[in-house]
Amino acid sequence: MRIFSGIQPTGVLHLGNYFGAIKQWVELQEGNECIYCIVDYHALTNESMVPEEMRRAKESLALDLLACGIDPEKSILFVQSDVPQHTELCWILGCVTSYGDLTRMTQFKQKAKEQEFVNAGLFYYPVLQAADILLYLADHVPVGEDQLQHLELSRRIARRFNYRFGELFPEPQPILSKGARIMSLADPSRKMSKSYGPDHYIGLMEDEKSIYKKIRSAVTDMGLQPGQEMSPGVANLFLLLELVAPAEVVEDFREKHKAGKLLYKDLKETLYRYLMEYLAPIRERRRELEEKGEIREILAAGAERARRIAWEVIREVRERVGLS
Ligand code: AMP
Ligand code: TRP
Repeated sequence: MRIFSGIQPTGVLHLGNYFGAIKQWVELQEGNECIYCIVDYHALTNESMVPEEMRRAKESLALDLLACGIDPEKSILFVQSDVPQHTELCWILGCVTSYGDLTRMTQFKQKAKEQEFVNAGLFYYPVLQAADILLYLADHVPVGEDQLQHLELSRRIARRFNYRFGELFPEPQPILSKGARIMSLADPSRKMSKSYGPDHYIGLMEDEKSIYKKIRSAVTDMGLQPGQEMSPGVANLFLLLELVAPAEVVEDFREKHKAGKLLYKDLKETLYRYLMEYLAPIRERRRELEEKGEIREILAAGAERARRIAWEVIREVRERVGLS
């Protein structure tokens, strides 16, 4: 399979991103041709993104991804704007995209509602996403549930192009991340996210004391009453524990919880210990990679490989549509 996926360079990578997406990206590297893209053009649609932060966030995210196990020997890791063919294909695909379809995109409608100034980039965002994928003739795209609509649109765009200009693009299929949906520790009714502020996520590279504080103050409940279901906050702590601790440990805590003998303080302390143990090698690798200072070279080499594929496809597209 040829896999393509993208992630925006916004701030820091958190546990939700890791367990919900990146861990699967790493696993997919075995036996597939993987292309992973830091989508800075997409991030520009975010009104609050300032230039200095954009530059910093791209490199920082690249270091995080490598530390998590994205291997530039196995996969192509690159920054979107280093391959300008993305924007060229975006324009061409825009001309086979239904305006009506774009007005029906849930993410666009949601974001447009939230802000006063709605830039056109936000409206065109799903076309650029389709261009990202189709530019590499990728057939599989690991994404979270919220991106399924965009992927469905990518397939419609591919179909429409193929119909008008002859079969070229595969219709990209989603690989729905089987990863868990991690909730905010401070408000377990919402997903862990950067958008709600620092209390609502745990960064992979975050300071230990700060992680400890967030886990210790995680919302739980007043204890399980007979016949009652686990509250969302406690379920979220168990979910995280399952991801980082051995099965026996989790089982033991579950038994105690059922018997009404679980002290949440113990659950939190244990979660903290196993989480830090789990993250230690990632954090260590991140430090080493940062010290080496080779991230720009790695991204430049990735862009070079991406451009080689992109250029072939764009050449064919230009031919098909009559631009050359
Ligand atoms: P975002 O930065 O929110 O666009 O997320 C980047 C990737 O991480 C997407 O593939 C999301 O599906 C995934 N992701 C974000 N937050 C969570 C979460 N709380 N739980 C699981 N996956 C998440
Ligand atoms: N829109 C995706 C997100 O917010 C990021 C993205 C951009 C993407 N281009 C892509 C994901 C291509 C998959 C394939 O998560």
